[in-house]
Amino acid sequence: MGILEVKNVNKRFGGLKALSEVNLSIAENSVHAIIGPNGAGKSTLLNVLVGKLIPDTGSVLFDGQSVLGRTPYEINQMGISRVFQTPEIFGDLSVMENMMIACFAKRDGAFTMQAIGSMMKERDIVEKAEQMLDSMNLADKRGMHSASMSRGDKRRLEIAMCLAQEPRLLLLDEPTAGMARADTNNTIDLLKKIKQDRDITIAIIEHDMHVVFSLAERITVLAQGTPLVEDTPENIKGHPKVREAYLGETQVAA
Ligand SMILES: Nc1ncnc2c1ncn2[C@@H]1O[C@H](COP(=O)(O)OP(=O)(O)O)[C@@H](O)[C@H]1O
Ligand SMILES: [Mg+2]
Repeated sequence: MGILEVKNVNKRFGGLKALSEVNLSIAENSVHAIIGPNGAGKSTLLNVLVGKLIPDTGSVLFDGQSVLGRTPYEINQMGISRVFQTPEIFGDLSVMENMMIACFAKRDGAFTMQAIGSMMKERDIVEKAEQMLDSMNLADKRGMHSASMSRGDKRRLEIAMCLAQEPRLLLLDEPTAGMARADTNNTIDLLKKIKQDRDITIAIIEHDMHVVFSLAERITVLAQGTPLVEDTPENIKGHPKVREAYLGETQVAA
C-alpha cells in the first residue's frame, strides 16, 4: 500500500477524456515521476491528487484518507504540498518576506498581510525562514524583490515555501520548466539533498528526461490520460511504449 493510492480515476472535460482509468500507487519516501507528452493529462492528474479537481469516478487516498472535496488548507494539513507549473509567490514582497509568510502560515494555520511588519520580531519565524533560505542556496537573495529573481530562484523559493509546511508528500509540476541547464542541475542537486535530509515522498511531473532520470526511482508514463507503463528508470529507457507515446516529440528518453 503506497502513501498515495489512485484507483480507477476518470475525468472528462466535455467530450474530452482527460483521464481514463488511472491507477497509481506511490510508495512512501520514494521519488515517483509522472511523464508523458503535452496534453497527456499530467497536470489534470496533479489537480486531482490535491483535491482541486473532483474526478468523475474513482478514489484518491493519501495515507488511507480521501483527498477528494477537501480545501487547499485541509490538503496542506494532511501533509501534501504542491508546487505549481508557474511559480506562485508574492512578487511585491522580498524573498525573506515570502519565506516568513510560509513559516508563519505553518505555525499559526493562517496568514494576514497586516502581519508582515510584525513578523520580523518573531525570532522563531525569522530563524526558520533564514534556515530554509540557506538550505535552498537563497540566503544571499533574502533582501531581493522576489519578482526580479531568476526563474530558477523563484522556483527554489517556492519549493522552500512548500517545505516550510513540513509535507510528507511534495508534488512538483515541471519544476525545471524554462530553466537554463545550469539552473536545472542546481535544482536537481537541491531536490536530491531534500530527499536525503528528511522523510519525504516526492511526486514529480516532468518533461525533461535528464531531470527524470537523475531523480526518479519509479516512473509512470501517461499517454492520452492513461498510464501506459510503470517501471524503474532503467526499464523505462528505450521502452517501446515510451517511444510510441513520445512519437513526434523531441525530448524522447535516450
Ligand atoms: N479545465 C479544462 N477544461 C477543458 N479541457 C482541459 C482543462 N484542463 C485540461 N484540459 C485538457 O485536458 C487534456 C490534458 O491536459 P493537461 O492535464 O494539462 O496535460 P499535460 O499537463 O499532460 O500537458 C488536454 O487536452 C487539455 O487541453
Ligand atoms: Mg501540464
